[in-house]
Amino acid sequence: MSTKREELLSRIYEIIKISTIPSILKKIIEVTEDSNSSVCELERVIEHDQSIAARVVGISNSVYYGFPRKINSISQAILVLGFEMVKGLAISTAVFDVFDKGKRPDIVSLWRHSFEVAMGSVLLAEKSGGVAKDSAFLAGLLHDIGRPILYQIFGRQYLDVIGCDAMGLLSIEEETFGAAHPEAGSWFADRCKLPESCVNSIRFHHNPELYLSTVKTGKPSPLVPMVYLADLIISEGNDCSGKCTIISPRHSDIMKAACVDNMVLHEVAETVKKMSAQLDGYFN
Ligand SMILES: [Fe+2]
Ligand SMILES: [Fe+2]
Repeated sequence: MSTKREELLSRIYEIIKISTIPSILKKIIEVTEDSNSSVCELERVIEHDQSIAARVVGISNSVYYGFPRKINSISQAILVLGFEMVKGLAISTAVFDVFDKGKRPDIVSLWRHSFEVAMGSVLLAEKSGGVAKDSAFLAGLLHDIGRPILYQIFGRQYLDVIGCDAMGLLSIEEETFGAAHPEAGSWFADRCKLPESCVNSIRFHHNPELYLSTVKTGKPSPLVPMVYLADLIISEGNDCSGKCTIISPRHSDIMKAACVDNMVLHEVAETVKKMSAQLDGYFN
């Protein structure tokens, strides 16, 4: 392991361990790290921070588009969405809130992007039937978590590379900071004791082929290619005014592994666009 890489790894672990982060994020991580902690404990922690509580409740309402009853408390959100999903919302809301006090437009738009990929992953999970919706939401929401974390550690220096296109970004991140955001994010997620499929979805969200080729025994999780596809259709949708043009031979194996087809991808891209337009208030 190169020195730069080692240094980054220990700085990510430090973020979680020491008091450089406000107590709310620390408490959320502590509660979620402890496998004995209960729903009530998570509820108590979230309720203590009004901005996180409001965001978790607000976003919970939109997760199940058309849900007949309005969610108006953390306990209801946990009941309807499940512990894992609320945990993911709490971690990501806290990370984005805590690490972006200046509300920089590029970080705010990354938060929105993360939420759209979460919605896309849920919809793909629904269509394919191979993955639980809460796992899909959690993995989609956190797939780019390495980016606000690198921003927290490197500040301005990270902002200089944030605008690069995906492939350029990965090599610049690796060269400059010791690891690219997928790997940095997966270290963080692993440390927060998030499920393995979620950690893998974060780690391989720009290269699901690598994941598929490394699974030697058993069946690979469809969640990893699913999050990749959700990220792809949402990023493409933004780049070319809603026209998805992702069909390529490269993607046919990935789609097969995620158990979805072209039509499903187009439908999901359209639905996410409509849902996202209704969520403007939650991302600033
Ligand atoms: Fe990414
Ligand atoms: Fe992304």
